Amino acid sequence: MENILVTGGCGFIGSNFIRFLLARDDFSGRIVNVDKLTYAGNAENLDGIAARYPNRYIFEQADICDPTAMGEIFRVNDVDAVCHFAAESHVDRSIVGPDAFIQTNINGTFNLLEQARARGDRLVLFHHVSTDEVYGSLGPEGRFRETTPYRPNSPYSASKAGSDHLVRAYHHTYGLPVTVSNCSNNYGPYQFPEKLIPLVILNALEAKPLPVYGDGTNVRDWLHVEDHCRAVWAIMQKGKRGRTYNIGGDCEKRNIEVVTEICAVLDRMSPVERPRRELITFVADRPGHDQRYAIDFSKIRDELAWAPRETFVSGLEKTVRWYLDNHDWVARVRSGEYQRWVDSHYG
Ligand code: NAD
Ligand code: DAU
Repeated sequence: MENILVTGGCGFIGSNFIRFLLARDDFSGRIVNVDKLTYAGNAENLDGIAARYPNRYIFEQADICDPTAMGEIFRVNDVDAVCHFAAESHVDRSIVGPDAFIQTNINGTFNLLEQARARGDRLVLFHHVSTDEVYGSLGPEGRFRETTPYRPNSPYSASKAGSDHLVRAYHHTYGLPVTVSNCSNNYGPYQFPEKLIPLVILNALEAKPLPVYGDGTNVRDWLHVEDHCRAVWAIMQKGKRGRTYNIGGDCEKRNIEVVTEICAVLDRMSPVERPRRELITFVADRPGHDQRYAIDFSKIRDELAWAPRETFVSGLEKTVRWYLDNHDWVARVRSGEYQRWVDSHYG
């Protein structure tokens, strides 16, 4: 892998992945970051990277659904591997407006697969980053395995499931060298503050209500984003082509526990008069809200020797610290000012 096309590299996980990969000793190639810069994409997430790695990193603002633009980017950069993060990623938005999810997650993935196929033998890997949500909702027992049948419940997870099926079909039909990863909930730096953990951190800092959907008993399996990046890279390097790997944190928490823990961490790091847990407000539930996700990651552990390293407590403390230290980033992301920053940097 000499010229890796990373899609969605200005988003939360993509930007963490690019920083992670460029700093490693076992990768000396180039990264071409393609991002449309939707509301969730922020070129500032990779501020300084082009200057630090002038011959190894380039950014192209483009839509993965655009065949002409993507064909040119594959050709000019002699792309030999793809790591595909770009997606519409927020479940609540998919309920309000599913169109963009179908366009980017299904049609965009289809377009990338076609571009990859056109590269013939030059293409050594198409890694597709997916989610545990494709498996649907668990009862109180059991965990998702790679063999669990798909039962997506939201427009978001259905669109990700559709993209997973396309990737699988391109391997089976055309022999495209693919790998797929289905990961649980990530948290860490640069996460857009519409997702639970950054939303609660920032609301709590401003003494705003902390919205908990339903009764707060829904369970997610939390993984620090750096552990996810390490897993994706392990799969890209050593994963068997055609295989799917589940990635999880062995860290099941009810939402109310997560929110309470964030309040406790904030109260320690940035004390205020009244405990922040008093801001917790139960609100109307998300329609079709999946009750529980939990990942069995024994396959990636046994085949690729991967396991999560960060504990929830240490990961959460680091994440809270990052949001405390980066209030300018937060202000720009929330105000739309970062769009002006993007315009001034990229014209
Ligand atoms: P994100 O919303 O933070 O970032 C998505 C990025 O994709 C943004 O930079 C956006 O500008 C870009 N993008 C969107 N549409 C595009 C298009 N048409 N063309 C080019 N770029 C486009 O998402 P994230 O949380 O970083 O998630 C990245 C991937 O990981 C997604 O595929 C998501 O399904 C998957 N995933 C996320 C999580 C999680 O907890 N966040 C967990 C498992 C899997
Ligand atoms: O499981 C992996 C998925 O995790 C990824 O594929 C998605 O891209 C990512 O957004 C995430 O999906 P969730 O819906 O689980 O994440 P979110 O942060 O939106 O919500 C986490 C839980 O918290 C969920 O049960 C809904 C609840 N929630 C969320 C918000 C935004 C609240 O109770 N209040 C809130 O305000």
